[in-house]
Amino acid sequence: MIHRPNVTDPGRVIAHRGASRVAPENTLSAFRAAAAQGVWWVEFDVSLLGDGTPVVHHDGTLERCTGRRGPLTDIAAADLSDLSAGIRHGDQFRNGPLPTLEQVLDVLEELHLYANLEMKPHDVPTGAIAAKVVEALATRPWARERIITSSFGHAELAAYRASAPNAPVAVLFEKPPRNWRVVVDQMQAAAVHLNFVHLSESLLREASSFGIDTRVYTINQPELMEPFREHGLTSVITDHPPLFLELDDWARWAKE
Ligand code: G3P
Ligand code: MG
Repeated sequence: MIHRPNVTDPGRVIAHRGASRVAPENTLSAFRAAAAQGVWWVEFDVSLLGDGTPVVHHDGTLERCTGRRGPLTDIAAADLSDLSAGIRHGDQFRNGPLPTLEQVLDVLEELHLYANLEMKPHDVPTGAIAAKVVEALATRPWARERIITSSFGHAELAAYRASAPNAPVAVLFEKPPRNWRVVVDQMQAAAVHLNFVHLSESLLREASSFGIDTRVYTINQPELMEPFREHGLTSVITDHPPLFLELDDWARWAKE
């Protein structure tokens, strides 16, 4: 049985790491900005700190987003208040926190957003992130209908699937291998997520014919998706949703 978020016509534009062109990626400000831009969906990355706290952060190291040297696993939850995740952005974001998964889930609930939660297993034992994500989502009944979990780490995704047999899952590839559908079937996944440069009409046709959703990342050029839009492309994951939402062809998927 395939599990998918229970939506009839969800928005097709997903804000990558939140509205990451106008706010620091993967921060509460980025998710609030995405909602203000009119998206239904955001994508974000989940990694673990050294004490096992799940946080919303892309890299395995801190430097790019916070300026602090060293791996993420060097710090614990108590250290988060010393960090700003907005060092590359304007003054209004300068003191924005690097958020925990719990803080982000609270904001998604408040804003009624859907989300693609991507697990990033940097240097932690297989299954460690999956266990934390399962635990965090278990107490939030709305998440079952509104969050789809993905990972490039297919062993991590398999661990998640084993602990959450009814949760929506997407298999994430850079470039789908020939047997991509076997992997999707093994994971009982609802969707395949891939780099837009590897999207093809034949993949879309195959996915559609088996009821598999297709989402592409990270696409900031709407004109490149035009040939695929009517061939079953489910969603685009973009750094700047207005690029799509301001076009007539995509605007009808904006949240009111
Ligand atoms: O989940 C889609 C996309 O975010 C995957 O790439 O490196 O931006 O997490 P990355
Ligand atoms: Mg990601």
